Amino acid sequence: MHIVTSIPQARALFDVLPRPLGFVPTMGALHDGHLALVTRARAECGAVGASIFVNPTQFAANEDLDRYPRDLEGDCAKLARAGVDVIFAPTPQTMYPEGFSTFVDVGAMGTTFEGAVRPTHFRGVATVVTKLLNIVRPDTLYLGQKDAQQTAVIRRMIRDLDAPIGVTIVPTERESDGLARSSRNVYLSPEERAAAPSLHYALQAIRLAMASGRPKVDAIAAARARVSPLAQLEYLDVVDADSFEPIETLRPPAFVIGAARFGGTRLLDNLWIDG
Ligand code: PAJ
Repeated sequence: MHIVTSIPQARALFDVLPRPLGFVPTMGALHDGHLALVTRARAECGAVGASIFVNPTQFAANEDLDRYPRDLEGDCAKLARAGVDVIFAPTPQTMYPEGFSTFVDVGAMGTTFEGAVRPTHFRGVATVVTKLLNIVRPDTLYLGQKDAQQTAVIRRMIRDLDAPIGVTIVPTERESDGLARSSRNVYLSPEERAAAPSLHYALQAIRLAMASGRPKVDAIAAARARVSPLAQLEYLDVVDADSFEPIETLRPPAFVIGAARFGGTRLLDNLWIDG
């Protein structure tokens, strides 16, 4: 396995890998959720590339960029074990040199839910993913269902900009109590950690109630009561999986989505509703 930090080095290595080339972009602090993407890519592709880059443009000034967990050595060991061929781990200076000024504007889809709380987040995600795709030039991009709105924004961007890349969405990996695995789970206090799976149970309650015919508003109102009083709930909703616009029934493909703050930590979760 190779670890490269410069763009010319990365291009030289990615260009000679067997095809199809699968690509897993990450911000590091890797857990079994990230590794599930690598395992899937390994099974489906001739070679697998990954990136580790804590992308500053998707964090707002008041967010956790500085304290975001970092463990480059540990991450590289995990990716090597999972079968990655080349890791691209650039510095912020390499990705955003002096004078950098072009961003990818994702439109209305980037302004709701996560985008309402984090107004510049999806512009930063779309910009860095575009750059990474231009550097790695994969055949297939592997994304986690865990970040549902991110999957919708990137799939839209790839369609709108005619990028010649397939996208595969990999189901969310969870802890045994249902909590979605996330690099941010390490921030939770023991009490918050114990309360955190309640977000997942609330989403399940919405799915169950709507599947048995209850209107969405009633299902969501009842599910609110399931979220731990330790949490500040930000949103619960049901959206179309492609447009990410709210819908009133569980018509697939859809996501039941939720976000809540446990102390200083925001957690996201969703359920995928497919045919
Ligand atoms: P990061 O949060 O590191 O996640 C990298 C990838 O792992 C994303 O596609 C994410 O959805 C997936 N992932 C995270 N937790 C998961 C879980 N529990 N189960 C399955 N997949 C999971 O998402 C980002 O980084 C960044 O926004 C990035 C796309 C790399 C752009 O900077």
